Amino acid sequence: MPFEDGATVLDAIIWIRGHRDPSLAIRYSCINANVCKECTIAIDGRVRYACTTRLVAGRTMVLDPLPGKTRLRDLVTETRPPRERLD
Ligand code: FES
Repeated sequence: MPFEDGATVLDAIIWIRGHRDPSLAIRYSCINANVCKECTIAIDGRVRYACTTRLVAGRTMVLDPLPGKTRLRDLVTETRPPRERLD
């Protein structure tokens, strides 16, 4: 993706969805307000918010779904408490 100073991991994922792979799945809601916690993923092995983690020019970052959670698709994991899930 074209790098811009201040761009976040979520910005990169949204760009990839728009320009390379529209099927790439991630959950997010508030975008940079850091209130919904929906964008939580593993970034370089640490659990972080994709919407507030800044990209670093020239550095490869490894993104994974949340560890210890059931992966639903790509970077989306099951985060609802078991009693709130529909059968
Ligand atoms: S999109 Fe809401 S905290 Fe990241």
